[in-house]
Amino acid sequence: MPFLIAPSILSADFLNLERDIEMLNRNDAADWLHLDLMDGVFVPNISIGFPTVAQLTKISKKPVEAHLMFVEPQRFITRFRDFGVSTLSVHYEACEHLYRVISEVRVAGMSPGVAINPHTPVELLDDILEEIDLVIVMSVNPGFGGQKFIPRALDKIRRLRRMIDSRGLRTLIEVDGGVTLDNSRQVIEAGADVLVVGNAVFGSNNPEEMIRKFKCGF
Ligand code: DX5
Ligand code: ZN
Repeated sequence: MPFLIAPSILSADFLNLERDIEMLNRNDAADWLHLDLMDGVFVPNISIGFPTVAQLTKISKKPVEAHLMFVEPQRFITRFRDFGVSTLSVHYEACEHLYRVISEVRVAGMSPGVAINPHTPVELLDDILEEIDLVIVMSVNPGFGGQKFIPRALDKIRRLRRMIDSRGLRTLIEVDGGVTLDNSRQVIEAGADVLVVGNAVFGSNNPEEMIRKFKCGF
């Protein structure tokens, strides 16, 4: 079954980000560029800021998806639209008025996505699923790259797959956190459409080759 690979540059070499984006640009196995944005409040870490996002989106030839680990993400929707971001994902746990935020992302011309933390049941998306293009199932606690995959996520992916298929929706399931060559097959078989790969790629000796292995590995 076809699936997409979305490399996250969180574990990339920050002294050579341009080199890494160019590697993704010429790599057919890389489908999207996954940008992790953190505010130090919703998650206990801060990653990159707007000036960096502006430069990365300028040189990326792959569609850019932004994963906002922010409180009050609605404050920044138009900034991301102006950067040319294709998919904007906000956290379920960070939005009191999720429906409104998603509608604003859509009106701004981007595809809305919703990310759920490991403790959040997929069933809580029941009344919003029709409105979104992507669900990010977090398979680690958000905030850091290079963490260990939480196996319970597999069951969540299967349940979400059933919810989506039983209604004939085209919402994509993206799995984010701790994806490795050892577990990627299980994740895809559980029903994922998009794999986020961070440390497994950028922590390896040959990131370019590693992305191809994820795409063709089985
Ligand atoms: C975690 C981020 C992930 C992370 C994935 O907060 O949302 O996108 O960078 O990286 P790995 O693959 O290293 O878990
Ligand atoms: Zn992410």
